[in-house]
Amino acid sequence: MQDALHIPVALDRCIALLSPAIESKTNPIIIDATLGMGGHSKALLIKYPNLKIIALDRDLSAIEVATTNLSEVIDRIEIVHAVYDEISEVLSKLGIDEVDGILFDLGVSSMQLDQAERGFAYSQEAPLDMRMDQSSGLSALDILNTYSYGELVRVIRNFGEEKFATKIADNIIKAREAGTLSTTKDLAEIVKNSIPAPARRTGGNPAKRTFQALRIEVNQELAVLERALPQAIQGIRVGGRLVVMAYQSLEDKIVKKAFAQVTGSNSPLGLPFDLPNSAASYKLVINGSEGASNQEIAINARAQSMRLRAIERVAA
Ligand SMILES: C[S@@+](CC[C@H](N)C(=O)[O-])C[C@H]1O[C@@H](n2cnc3c(N)ncnc32)[C@H](O)[C@@H]1O
Repeated sequence: MQDALHIPVALDRCIALLSPAIESKTNPIIIDATLGMGGHSKALLIKYPNLKIIALDRDLSAIEVATTNLSEVIDRIEIVHAVYDEISEVLSKLGIDEVDGILFDLGVSSMQLDQAERGFAYSQEAPLDMRMDQSSGLSALDILNTYSYGELVRVIRNFGEEKFATKIADNIIKAREAGTLSTTKDLAEIVKNSIPAPARRTGGNPAKRTFQALRIEVNQELAVLERALPQAIQGIRVGGRLVVMAYQSLEDKIVKKAFAQVTGSNSPLGLPFDLPNSAASYKLVINGSEGASNQEIAINARAQSMRLRAIERVAA
């Protein structure tokens, strides 16, 4: 039986959302922008024997695991080690102009969270790394050791939506000067001691927000997503669909805004009628967003914070 932790989120719903774009084609192509362990890709490839997938992941260890998991369908999937803001580049290298669908299942995978040594989990002692691509870039510890007080406040406040960002940044600076900051446990302890006792009693582990903030900064998650969505929107052909699952509100806001921009009328705001040829080239497939079912959340806690959005291209 599959480990409950590794069940792909909203699998049936993602397949149902992509299927109209796949079923009408003789040689459909889908991009899985976040391959992970390959759960969504594998199910799609098994369901549609004529489907090809181009899959991206920035994490080489995810690619290794997915390659094994996908062995029975490996001839129909092209796996590329890339960040998803390179979608246009990857497509042009493969000589492909447009695809029938694109799936983004954002954030870290349960596998990355389970690998304690990666430093994503505040509950397990490990070096403060947090890079999804361990072959390049600054680690969380590099950031904690080199950012100024002001930069640390900005990251923790903006990306962690943390009220006590100034106190936490202050204590990070003190700890790094004293040489007592190197592991996830050290950071979790600093955060705990920076938050007034009454505030510690609500909202789960207080380290969660600071860890989220650092992960976003280390991997430049929001900036990358902002650059990737226009490429994905442009990359689907008429009748093609773009499906995105976000697990935190900052990412979901970016998706919501990008979808609103391309599904609204192109007429100037305030006109009581639409100008000729101003109809949008994309339509919302889901009005607003959807969450996972209670049944799914009961077996997969990770699905709890998921927001799913989808659009379809209706005109060139
Ligand atoms: C939630 S998991 C995907 C799980 C996958 N759908 C499955 O069924 O196994 C997200 C994956 O996307 C990758 N990832 C996150 N941000 C990325 C980015 N900007 N570019 C490429 N891959 C990214 C992570 O390394 C991780 O493996």
